[in-house]
Amino acid sequence: MKFFLDTANLKEIQEAVELGVLDGVTTNPSLMAKEGIKGTDAVMSHYKQICEIVDGDVSAEVIATDFEGMIREGEALAELHPNIVVKVPMIKEGVKAIRYFSDKGIKTNCTLIFSAGQALLAAKAGATYVSPFVGRLDDIGHDGLQLVQQIVDIFSNYGYPTQVLAASVRHVPHLLQCAELGADVVTCPLSVIMGLLNHPLTDKGLATFLADHKKVNA
Ligand code: G3P
Repeated sequence: MKFFLDTANLKEIQEAVELGVLDGVTTNPSLMAKEGIKGTDAVMSHYKQICEIVDGDVSAEVIATDFEGMIREGEALAELHPNIVVKVPMIKEGVKAIRYFSDKGIKTNCTLIFSAGQALLAAKAGATYVSPFVGRLDDIGHDGLQLVQQIVDIFSNYGYPTQVLAASVRHVPHLLQCAELGADVVTCPLSVIMGLLNHPLTDKGLATFLADHKKVNA
């Protein structure tokens, strides 16, 4: 299973790289805004910096919602670095853009997936990744993980190469359940990855080992 960090924060990306478990990064306009990145040049330069830190796919989202605009933006993003994946929203024009990018060998991540039908359409258009938003479905009383299961099953039935990238993953149980369901990738905040470290019995056991070691070496 691949771990992507869902952030535009360079320090957090660096920290995850240093832990040795990071496979890529996903960003979106909200995450860029959170880092105070303003203007096209600053946005492009920020994506480049992310690509220099992490050795893996980096999703960069188009802002345009028309086909021509998405192509223009996506091609400019793809030229920035070989690891850029063009993130395209799940709308009609987005499906056309995914087909266009796929035919050109440009990787895509179809974002804002909230149904299995949307995921199937994106896979048929040749998306590299589809991003079902687990937490946001849970927020409205649906079952985000059930959607991940449905998409994993459908892609496996037909051998689609499109990878299921579980997004809006908010906590450790989300991540672990995505792993059980066979999602190819999870993208989440650094706190969720760090949360995997924690167990009180590990802390307790380590404290005992260290105390006993002190006694032996006293
Ligand atoms: O990758 C999509 C993700 O950023 C959405 O997460 O927590 O805002 O629903 P969240």
